[in-house]
Amino acid sequence: IYGEHRPNSRGVNLTINSQYQPLMEAMGKHMDTRYQARPLLAFEVAEDPAQTHEVTSPYDRRQVVGSVQWTTREQTERAVDAAWAAFPAWEVTPVKERADILRRFADLMEEHLAELMALCSREGGKLLTDGVDEIREAVDFCRYYAVRAEEIFGEPTELPGPTGESNRLHMGGKGVFAAISPWNFPVAIFCGQMVATAVAGNTVLAKPAEQTSIVAHRVVELLYQAGMPREVVQLLPGDGPTVGSVLTGDSRITGVVFTGGTDTAQIINRALAERENAPLPTLVAETGGMNAMIVDSTALPEQVVADVIHSAFQSAGQRCSALRVLYLQDDVADRVLQILDGAMAELHVGDPRDLGTDVGPVIDEDARKNLQAHIDRLKGEGRLISETPLKPEHTSEGTFVAPAAFTIDGIDALEREQFGPVLHVVRWKSNELDKVIASINARGYGLTFGVHSRNESFADEIARKVRVGNVYINRNIIGAVVGVQPFGGQGLSGTGPKAGGPNYLLRFATEKTVTNNT
Ligand code: NAD
Ligand code: ALA
Repeated sequence: IYGEHRPNSRGVNLTINSQYQPLMEAMGKHMDTRYQARPLLAFEVAEDPAQTHEVTSPYDRRQVVGSVQWTTREQTERAVDAAWAAFPAWEVTPVKERADILRRFADLMEEHLAELMALCSREGGKLLTDGVDEIREAVDFCRYYAVRAEEIFGEPTELPGPTGESNRLHMGGKGVFAAISPWNFPVAIFCGQMVATAVAGNTVLAKPAEQTSIVAHRVVELLYQAGMPREVVQLLPGDGPTVGSVLTGDSRITGVVFTGGTDTAQIINRALAERENAPLPTLVAETGGMNAMIVDSTALPEQVVADVIHSAFQSAGQRCSALRVLYLQDDVADRVLQILDGAMAELHVGDPRDLGTDVGPVIDEDARKNLQAHIDRLKGEGRLISETPLKPEHTSEGTFVAPAAFTIDGIDALEREQFGPVLHVVRWKSNELDKVIASINARGYGLTFGVHSRNESFADEIARKVRVGNVYINRNIIGAVVGVQPFGGQGLSGTGPKAGGPNYLLRFATEKTVTNNT
């Protein structure tokens, strides 16, 4: 929409299929390069073997992607000094200049699509289709926020009134932002946070996830090439609690834009609140979900299964938007589960570089172990419905988890978000709808939600009653499109405002009213 192609995951396969072969050839050039990532700060950082960590591929732990040097506490403190010093000049840089940097950056990411996709695959274990979605979304964030910034931060708004004075509303930046991002959208979310805070006139300390620092490093190099001053956006790869605690404990940090787990958001919230003599902070936190879908007896089973497979298992279930709990009305449940079983048997788990793969690896060994423990527990309770076969010849050297579906009694049975290809199924009877909705709302998360029904008023009623950020009717529940499907949750799932929506930049802005009686 803001780029040349349709950006979303529902349409992108159709438009990109014919380009796969040349794209794969172009990616091939970047599949063996050893990358070296390090902090990109306003000052030079010396090589430091003691801080350097090897990065390997989730699909094959024997393959080295490169290394990353983590940021120390002392370097983090100096980076805050530099960001603080750079803010006044950046805030008054004309918004057109700031927005044009984003546009050039978007163009550069498109030019480097193959390299960025290769890194998403090698470092993040992403399938090619997911890689395309990822870069597409990052590009769209840049172009969308560039347009919005010019609308919001252009000339001050004249507010005529009865006082006879001139009243003008000026929009400016807030100060220094820490932008802390997760590994599962290592380009899209990483860029979205970084460019939104910067284009609004703030200086930014970008902290990528430990697992995906190399692609973040490459992206920031492109951002500098697009003209972003080095002191305005700095990259601080490193350990979350170490770098994070310096950032969130510093009274000069005006705000934090965070995407990641709900527990981490709560740690950050507490750290910001405990600072002394600090301005009241801005915290934008987009966190986890326990996303449900309600299917009634009028739904089309084949369509339900196609959308469930996408929602639960695309990106190996490692999307915050992914489906975790499927509520099937009793009358249609057996038929849906029968088709689901067949569809899951057909899924191909394996190497993300292979175009025939449907489900790639999970991000690391910790994630694999946690998911496997959950799966083993539910299997032990005799709750398995279906499981995709895991072929050792395709998966032995990586961190793979076989997609699986289990019955559970209700959403309350899930203690925490299971961030992988695990689907939970609950049956409901026609007189239990209010109870189902009440339990979903009471669980406290509120990110995505789906309803499948051919009864329009039924679907509309449910959409009205569920307390979530994004409701999808008769389709899958992933792949929100920048600018038209603003994305983000409520309750335990996030603070808002929504990424890719018209109000996002406002949260990083200060309003100043100037009244002149001259
Ligand atoms: P995480 O919370 O473990 O880490 C996220 C980031 O926080 C990383 O950069 C990490 O280094 C940093 N961090 C860790 N401890 C910190 C601390 N004490 N202080 C400051 N920063 C700290 O999350 P993850 O495993 O990287 O990502 C997966 C989670 O992200 C899932 O829960 C998923 O639902 C959520 N997510 C949400 C959205 C959304 O838009 N709502 C999008 C993507 C992912
Ligand atoms: N924005 C991503 C999605 O909608 C998380 O799937």
